Formats: sequence, structure tokens, C-alpha cells
Amino acid sequence: MTKSTNIVWHDSKVSKKNRQDLNKHKSAVLWFTGLSGSGKSTVSVELEKELHTMGIHTYRLDGDNVRHGLNNNLGFSPEDRTENIRRIGEVSKLMVDAGLFTLTAFISPYRADRDKVRAILDEGEFIEVYVKASVATCESRDPKGLYKKARAGEIKGFTGIDAPYEEPNEAEVVVDTDKLSLEESVQAIVTYLKEKGYLEK
Ligand code: ADX
Repeated sequence: MTKSTNIVWHDSKVSKKNRQDLNKHKSAVLWFTGLSGSGKSTVSVELEKELHTMGIHTYRLDGDNVRHGLNNNLGFSPEDRTENIRRIGEVSKLMVDAGLFTLTAFISPYRADRDKVRAILDEGEFIEVYVKASVATCESRDPKGLYKKARAGEIKGFTGIDAPYEEPNEAEVVVDTDKLSLEESVQAIVTYLKEKGYLEK
């Protein structure tokens, strides 16, 4: 719902295309989605390092980090998760406009929320990366000890335990971290970006 009235869009004299031309590569969002502990943060951190080494301008937004600042007034109710993803979607759009390869790592459990982000970006600018791992695998990794707490009833509404995760139907890239090594997961995404011509102008 838009509350602002009497607002008028003011164009810049430097466009997204100008910025992409300067950078010599395209800009887009790599939207990582998956369960807590599936490997979204780990894979996106390694991928960002790899892209940076290749001379690609990047920025990474991570669920736990963003919830310390911009979204520190949001919890984990369905409404708050939807608002979390809406804000990150808008921030990602600004970053794509700024010419950056934006890597986001949020559970983003609802398909409709992810599709809304896709819809506010231009064609080809939203690259959904499904970081796939079973609840059993994520629970065995349990890097933050949160599955244990959720099983003990200390966290209510934990994704994969007593809150839903809706798998993507048509993710651009699926990395199955049950089967692939970290390096293989990163390379699968780099290969996709190269094949689709994202890393050049
Ligand atoms: S999202 O659902 O709104 O996309 P987000 O990615 O920002 O979630 O945050 C998920 C992180 O918050 C998890 O990795 C975990 O560390 C923490 N967390 C705390 N409570 C919950 C919960 N109820 N469900 C899922 N993750 C939670």
C-alpha cells in the first residue's frame, strides 16, 4: 500500500546502461533461496569472491546481516517475512540500477514474495538460485544450533520444522548442496552467468 502522495519521479542523467557500459558487464540479482543451513550464505560468499576476482562489481545482502539493521523491526511471522523480502527486493532493484551484481541470501520461503521481486525487475535481471538441501541435511549441519532449539520448542515457526518452505518451480539455477561440493556449486553458477552472457557487455 502506497502512503506517499504528491511524489514525482526525477530521472538521472546517468542511466543503468551507462553504468553497465562503464563496468563492462551486465547487472542482475542472484536471488539465493533455500532452508536455513542449506548453504545460501556460504555459496554466495564464495561466489562473490570469485566474481570480484574476475573484475565484476558486486554487493551481497544476507538475511542475518540485514536483520541487524534495515530490517531490525521485523520478526518471522508470515507478514514480517513478506515485508522483509519486499524491502530486500526494492534494495536489490536499486543495486541493479547502480550496475552491481547483487547477491541476496534470504530463506524467502514464499513463492509469491519471490515472484513479486522478479516482477519489479527487468527481464533477465532476476536469477533465482535454489540452494537445495533436505531438512534432514540442514538439521544435521545445524551451524547455528537453531534446528535443535526449534525441535525443543524454543523457537516457534521455524522454516522446515513448523513453518513452510515453498520450493521454486522454475529456478534459473539449482545447486544441490546435498551432492555438490562448495566449489562445484560456485562453478555451476559461474557457468550459468557466462553462458547467458551476463559477465560481458
Ligand atoms: S526470511 O524467511 O524472512 O527470508 P531470513 O533469511 O531473513 O528469513 O532470516 C533467516 C535467518 O534467521 C535464519 O538463517 C536463522 O538464522 C534466523 N531465524 C531466526 N528465527 C527463525 C525462524 N523462525 N525461521 C527461520 N529462520 C529463523
